[in-house]
Amino acid sequence: MKSNIYEIANGIFRISVAPTDKFEFNHFLIVDEKCMLIHTGGKRIFDALHSIVSELIPLEKLQYIAFSHFESDECGALNNWLKIAPNAIPITNEIGKATMDDFSDKKAEIVNDNQIIDLGRNKIQILLTPHIPHGWESMLFFEITNGILFSSDLGAQPGINIPVTTENLSDRILKFQEEAGFIPKGENFKSVIERLRKLKINYLATMHGSTLKGDQITSLFENQIFIKQNL
Ligand SMILES: [Fe+2]
Ligand SMILES: [Fe+2]
Repeated sequence: MKSNIYEIANGIFRISVAPTDKFEFNHFLIVDEKCMLIHTGGKRIFDALHSIVSELIPLEKLQYIAFSHFESDECGALNNWLKIAPNAIPITNEIGKATMDDFSDKKAEIVNDNQIIDLGRNKIQILLTPHIPHGWESMLFFEITNGILFSSDLGAQPGINIPVTTENLSDRILKFQEEAGFIPKGENFKSVIERLRKLKINYLATMHGSTLKGDQITSLFENQIFIKQNL
C-alpha cells in the first residue's frame, strides 16, 4: 500500500492511498476551525488513511465527512470514521437521505444546492450534480477561497501520479473516461460541464490521479471532444 500526502493550498491536503500501481484513491482533508474530510475511502484502506489523518489533526476536530455519491471509495468506511471521530457529521442531500438513513450510523446533515458550508478560512459551496460523475445523489464540492473543485471521478486518471500538475492531461483523461465508461453521456453531463465552466476553478482535485492546476482545466472543459462525445 503506497501513500502520499501533499498540501495543495494552505491547510488543504491531498492524501493518496494506492493499494496497487494501477489506481490511486485521493482523499482531501481541509484543516480549519472546523475540519472536513472529503471521501472516506473503502474499509480495506481505512487503517492506512486514518493513521495519516490522525497525524495531521486530532480526530475530535473532524466536523464534516463529505462524499459525492454512494460507492465504496467515496463512503465505504463512513461508519469506521464515525466510531473514531466523535464530532464528525456526514453530509448528504435530499436524494441521498433515504440511503444514508439506512447506511449511516449517525444521522446525516442535509445540504442543498449552492449552500455554503463555512469551515472558518475556507468556504465550501455545494453543487448538486445528479448522475454526474455517476449516481442520482451525486454532488461536488467547490472550495471558494482557493478555487479548488473537489470533482470526485471527474478528471480521473489511471496509475499513481504526481500530486499536482500543470501539464495538459485532457487527452489522457478523455481516453480513460471513454474507455472505462464511468460517466454517463447526455444532457445531465452537458449541463454540469457548462455550470462548472462558469466557476473560477484554479485546481481540479480529482479522486483518482493528479490534481490539475491552471489553464488546462478550462481546456479540459472546453475540449470539443469532451463535450461533443457526451451529447
Ligand atoms: Fe465513483
Ligand atoms: Fe472514485
